[in-house]
This record gives sequence, structure tokens and C-alpha cells, in this order.
Amino acid sequence: MKTLSVAIVGLGRLGKRHALNLQFRIANAQIVAACSPLQDELDWARENLGEVSCYADYQGVLNDPAVQAVILVTPTTLHAEQIIEALQAGKHVFCEKPLALNILDCERVEAVAVQNPQLKVMIGFVRRFDPSYYSAWQTLQTQSMGEPFFVRSQTCDQFDPSGSFVKFAATSGGLFMDCSVHDIDLARWLLGNPNPIRAYASGVCSHYSELKAFNDIDNGVATVEFDNGKMAVFYASRTFAHGHETRTEVIAQTGSLTIGDGAQQNHVVKSTSGGIFHQTTPDFFARFSEAFLLELEHFIDAVLHDSVLRLNLSDATAATQIGLKITQNTEFSRPHNRP
Ligand code: NAI
Repeated sequence: MKTLSVAIVGLGRLGKRHALNLQFRIANAQIVAACSPLQDELDWARENLGEVSCYADYQGVLNDPAVQAVILVTPTTLHAEQIIEALQAGKHVFCEKPLALNILDCERVEAVAVQNPQLKVMIGFVRRFDPSYYSAWQTLQTQSMGEPFFVRSQTCDQFDPSGSFVKFAATSGGLFMDCSVHDIDLARWLLGNPNPIRAYASGVCSHYSELKAFNDIDNGVATVEFDNGKMAVFYASRTFAHGHETRTEVIAQTGSLTIGDGAQQNHVVKSTSGGIFHQTTPDFFARFSEAFLLELEHFIDAVLHDSVLRLNLSDATAATQIGLKITQNTEFSRPHNRP
């Protein structure tokens, strides 16, 4: 069996998960190099990934002839430049979402990708690889419910009293670009790639007033109108009480689909005189653990067998474009904020 030698770049919250999946759960991938500017993250790599070359500087990865592909799990503000440098160094690229925080950067990446057609580039819109979302998409392809025209989708994280995510606010692009970009990609995919014509939003800082310093919010609603009479509404929250709830409804002419209702962790439901209960997914790792594995398997297989990726860079550019419009057209309900 052919094996792809990869470098993991960025070993934070998500990078460590991707690293463990690549090294121990994906048979045809092998991590040969790890990169982080932080010594403790490189120590983690040495302890947990086996024999890997460790680099504090990304240039070291790019110069390493053993590395065939890079897996970028770095802050969003670095994505575009790191993708371009990897392509110019002859490496295939998997990069976390979003592709970039502005259109110019997206276009620069697309241009370099066009110059290097032999190299694969994939942005990690993980939900397309979730079996439930994929099943919904397949159902819509049959047209058994007619044309889908409305998506209502939410990404809601569980309230974290430590406010740890506030540290990401400076580089995340804001709530809609960080969280709703997943829903935006889903909406385009499930609605058949319509073009946006109008986008607007509003939001509040209901719990985390620290976000105001970054012009960010912790709860918000966005509306996007597409051509062909289609539209989508997105809700994003950092403050859900019961867990991480990613939930999507697709409404078609003669029916609708709901994915992820109730944030159910498993199929167990307890019914007593006190009510009906089920456990919830605490975070996106729990909700999308299988999809995180499947998306990387898809990328590795596409590189090894030169097969077509399920999503392309123009999908990622379109998601950034819509996320940006929403973010720019957000009205802040500041007078109602808690101090
Ligand atoms: P994090 O802050 O925990 O990790 C970032 C990592 O990048 C750290 O290891 C840091 O040391 C490293 N880093 C910083 N500068 C670097 C450089 N110049 N070269 C190499 N490494 C560098 O952030 P987190 O949460 O892991 O997010 C990383 C990316 O993953 C973000 O773009 C985020 O949007 C995305 N993400 C995607 C999710 C999904 O559902 N698909 C979920 C969470 C994050």
C-alpha cells in the first residue's frame, strides 16, 4: 500500500487531534515532521507521534524533502501565506477552515494552485464528511422532495466560564467567520451552490463583554439571500447551556430535513416521571470525531490516487466571501449588552 508522508503544522487544540488521527488511525498516512513555534508542543510531538523531525520554523518543513504534504492547523490569519509557500515548495496542502479572512488572499491562493495543478489543496470543511450531513445531501440529490430553497443552520458552542476562546478572537475573523463559515459552506452545498445577493446580520455580547475590544460578539444571527429565490439563516453562539449543538434544517418544496437536532451524543433516551433526557455532545470534537477522520482520509486518498477532491478552493473562497459580507454588515446591539 502507498503511504503519504505528511507534516503537521500547528499543534494546538485541533492540531493534536489531527496529528493523532493521521499517525494512528489512517493507515496510508505517516507523520514525518511536526512544526510549532512552541517548545512544549514540539515536546508533545516527540512524546506522542514517535520518530518525527521537529521544526520551530515553518521553513524547515518546506525544505524537508521527506514531506510530501502539509496539514495546516494554524491560526486563520496565517492560512493563505502558508498554503502559497507550501505549493511553491511542491507540497500538497490540507488546511483548516476558513481559507482566509479576505478575498484578495483567497484569490492569491487560487492563482498559485492553478499554477500547480499537480498538487492537491483542500480546506477542511469537515461537515461535508459527517455521515448525517452527507446522507442529507444525497437525499436532496434524488429530488424526492423537490428543490431545496431554505437552510436554517446553527453552530452553538457550550458556554465556557473560563472564556478561553476569547484568546482566538484576534485571529479568528469573528463569530460568523469562525463558526458560521461551516454553516455557510453547508448552505451552499445543500442548496446547489447558489450565488449570494444580499447578506446582513446582528449580534450581541451576552456573556463575554471582553469580545467588544475585538469588535466581536458571542451570539448572532445572519441572513443571506441567494439568487433563484433561495435563502439561509445562520445562528451562532458561544454560550449554549446544554452542550455543543450544530443543527441544520433544509426546507425543500415538498419536505424538509433536519440534521443534528438536540445535540444527541448517542441513541440513548431516558424517560422518567421527571421528563425525557438524553446526553449531549460537549464540544465539536465529540460531534464530529468521525468526520475529522473521514475528511483527512479523503485528502490522503485523493493525493495518493490523484482522484478529484469533493470540494475545491472556489467553494472555500465563496464561504469567505459570504462570511465577510455578513461580518461587515453586522449591527451590534450594544445598548442591550450586559456590562
Ligand atoms: P490553536 O491556537 O489551539 O492552535 C494553533 C497552533 O498553531 C498552535 O499550535 C500554535 O503554536 C501554532 N502556530 C502559531 N503560529 C505558527 C506558525 N507561524 N507556524 C506553525 N505553527 C504556528 O488553534 P486551533 O483551535 O487549533 O485552530 C487552528 C485552526 O483550526 C484555525 O484556523 C481554526 O479556524 C481551525 N479550527 C477548525 C475547526 C473545525 O471544526 N474544522 C475547529 C477548531 C479550529
